[in-house]
This record gives sequence, C-alpha cells and structure tokens, in this order.
Amino acid sequence: MSRVVVTGRIPEVALESLRAEHEVDAWEAAEPIGRDELLNRVAGADALVTLLTERVDAELLDAAGPQLQGVANVAVGYNNIDVPVCRERGVVVTNTPDVLTEATADIAMGLILMATRRLGEGERIIRRREPWAWGMFYLLGSGLQGKTLGVIGLGGIGAATARRARAFGMRIAYSSRNPCSPEVAQELGAQRLELDELLRTADVVSVHCPYSDATHHLIGAQQLALMPDTAYLVNTARGPIVDEAALADALSERSIAGAGLDVFEQEPQVHEGLLELDNVVLVPHLGSATIETRTAMATLAADNALAVLRGEDPPTPV
Ligand code: GLV
Repeated sequence: MSRVVVTGRIPEVALESLRAEHEVDAWEAAEPIGRDELLNRVAGADALVTLLTERVDAELLDAAGPQLQGVANVAVGYNNIDVPVCRERGVVVTNTPDVLTEATADIAMGLILMATRRLGEGERIIRRREPWAWGMFYLLGSGLQGKTLGVIGLGGIGAATARRARAFGMRIAYSSRNPCSPEVAQELGAQRLELDELLRTADVVSVHCPYSDATHHLIGAQQLALMPDTAYLVNTARGPIVDEAALADALSERSIAGAGLDVFEQEPQVHEGLLELDNVVLVPHLGSATIETRTAMATLAADNALAVLRGEDPPTPV
C-alpha cells in the first residue's frame, strides 16, 4: 500500500478507486489548501493528486520526499507544475486532456454570446431594478453570422469552440505554432494566419493556447491595438496569456468592443479596472465545471496515479 495525498476536494468515485488500492489522505475543505498545510501533508507521499490551485515545485517535492513517484494534476493545463524539476527527480507528471474539451468549448461559446449580445449587462440592469423597455436601439449587440472567429491555439478545445462557432454561421481563422491537421483544417474551413493578421481581421478572438513563458502576455497592449474597435476577445485558457491591465485600458477606451473572461492573471483576484466596465463578461474559472466533466477529470487523474504506482504507463502523461 502506498500513500496518496489528494490536495483538494475531488468527486468521491475517484477517491474510492484510490482507496481501493492505497492509503489516501485527502484535503476535505471547500477552500484551497494553504501552502504550509500542503507542505506538511505531502510528507511521505508516493503520489500526489493535485488541483491547478497548488504549485508543484522543488520545495513541494522536497517536502514530499524521494519516494514520490507521480503527480496527477486534475486539469489539462499544468502550468502550476514545474515539469522539468519533476522530470529531473524521476517524478511522472500527468494531466487530464480531452475529457474537458467539450465543457470548456461550451463556456467559450457562452462567453462569445454573452459578450457580443451584452447579456451580462442586460442582466445587471434588471437585477438593479433599473427601468427598461424594449427599444429599437436598446442594448444592441453584434451578430455572429458571417463573422470570423480567430482561434489562438487550435488544439482540441480551440477546434471544439470553432465547431460551435460554425454552427452559429461563423468563419474560422486560427494562429498556432504548428498547422493543424489537413482533416481538421478542412472540417472547419480554417485558415491559418500569423497572430498579427488574425488580430487585425477576426471579429471575435478566442484564446486556447497553453500558458508558458512563451505565451505570457501574448495578448498585450500592442496586440490589442491591432484589433478593430468592433472586435471581441474571449479567454478560457489561462489568465496571464492576456495582459489584464492592457485589456482593461482597451475596453475602457473602447478600442475593442468587448471581452469575456473565464480566467485571470492572479486568480481569484480580478483587475480592478475590469470590474468597473460593462463591456466585459467575468466568470470565475468555470470552463470544466460540470458534474460530468469534473467526475471524468478526477477519475482520469486517479487512473493516472494508480498506473504510476503500479509501475505501468499512465493513460495521459504530459
Ligand atoms: C482548467 O483550467 C484546466 O486546465 O483543466
């Protein structure tokens, strides 16, 4: 029997499969585990099941000890994990790709609709009990039919968002480090553009690339300045890909029309400038937040941890 430390609350079914083979120490509180508590708990762990709110770095690996074999992140993004340090120490890192693709694409499409049709703004008016009346020019938004969605990072989630956008009559352009497969390009009718060109021409830009040093502030003041004042930006990937202060400026100056954000640079903080604005939709990192998806993510993470502890290849190593 090995010791598995689960650093946050996960669905019971995943805990049960871990408990069937190992001694499991799981953080049960709804709020994220504090750093000191985390460093104490991981001592002697053979595997960790981590959430994206936990930083897995040399300090944490030291606290765990040399017997640690694997870190199973319950997320597709793994920017919370220092992967090179884990590799150096022979600690296998896994993530949960694919199972959250559709749920996250739903939220991206939802934010596109909310931002372009001013749904948050309208809802706030009603909740503030402000007077309103149907009017020919009241809360006019922007239609999607015939417009172009510019996808930054056409991986699984980017492609799933593009499929949804096609159903709304949009054309698809993308920018990506590598071209997508000819099958995906054909299915989506997707045109590959340089990032600057994509920003200049897309009506809605949706961010789907992974976060790394290379994508930190990929969208900053300069890039936002390339976008037309009728364009929208949506981010469901990772907050720091977009320079939040620059975005707040662009939105308040109306140099872009609107934005929808599910992720933030310093979660759970949100840039004060954004909170003041009506032309941005703000939701608290809900991309994968469905019962089905979170269950699938936790189950996959548990399967990854179990495989590592059995000495088998895990289903989804990073
Ligand atoms: C969520 O943000 C994830 O990376 O899974």
